[in-house]
Amino acid sequence: MPSPSIPQPSILISRTLPAESVANARSRADVDFNDADSPLPRPELIRRLQGRQGLVCLITDAIDAELLAACPELKVASNVAVGFNNIDVAAATKRGVVITNTPDVLTETTADFAWTLLMAAARRLVEADRYVRDGKFTQWKYMLLLGGDIHGKTLGIVGFGRIGRAMARRAQGFGMRVLYQDAVGADAATERELRATRTDTATLLRESDFVTLHTPLLPETRHLINAQSLKTMKRTAYLINAARGPIVDEAALAQALEEGWIAGAGLDVFEEEPKVHPGLMGLPNVVLAPHIASASSETRLQMANLAVENCLAVLEGKTPLTPVNPEALKLR
Ligand code: DGY
Repeated sequence: MPSPSIPQPSILISRTLPAESVANARSRADVDFNDADSPLPRPELIRRLQGRQGLVCLITDAIDAELLAACPELKVASNVAVGFNNIDVAAATKRGVVITNTPDVLTETTADFAWTLLMAAARRLVEADRYVRDGKFTQWKYMLLLGGDIHGKTLGIVGFGRIGRAMARRAQGFGMRVLYQDAVGADAATERELRATRTDTATLLRESDFVTLHTPLLPETRHLINAQSLKTMKRTAYLINAARGPIVDEAALAQALEEGWIAGAGLDVFEEEPKVHPGLMGLPNVVLAPHIASASSETRLQMANLAVENCLAVLEGKTPLTPVNPEALKLR
């Protein structure tokens, strides 16, 4: 129990989270909780955040300079996601607002799903499911729904952080050659362990049978995959994106899939979520998912728990487990 002389911190949880995480927050803070599974309209988000010191937010909340200026008592914004492109971190740091995210706990689950997309796209699983449901499976056919092999092929990983490396680990089970591109090379032991070779983007695109994206969305990665890069890929190759939508020029991808520049794609993220480029919607050679790569029950609970812990740690004067801008802690 907190001492009566020390007031409990006051936080806003902007959108529904598992009950266990909310209960933890409520045991240590005064909590305003939006239990709806839709984002608060921006004016309401600002109004409900004003006067509070902590925010547990989701990728659908834009935490920008305007919001930060309107909420001067805010000390911490804790994103329930590993990506934090919804937050203006520089503006937050300038104000001494600590930003935290939820890395690690979602690595394996996200890689599992990126791998699911890869396999579903290559082996045409969604088309096959539809075929059976549509009553078309009236006899076995030798040439029906031929896909591309996965084992023994080359996997190109763009972004060799935690999730990219988890993809490389999975590739070993399929006897694949692994190429990766990253601004920073992995150490020799990691490259050896994951049997991964660092290369430039053009070589990776040219030589890979599967190109999978695991880089954050940054000015330099926006439209990293564009018409030119899609034309560089093999006509038999597949593109997988479970990172951030704007890394891919969706209009160019729709054209590439329609015109057969590449064989197929698996997408969990989109340029203007929840909108999907209309050119993709009717194509059979793309598997589409509604941004669910980290959505296992276990992982979503761990993400929420970590985000709540991060938020409360800052407000209780401790160091959060996973700060994005640790320099802001020094400004407090
Ligand atoms: C993340 O963590 O960044 C995902 O995209 C949302 O769970």
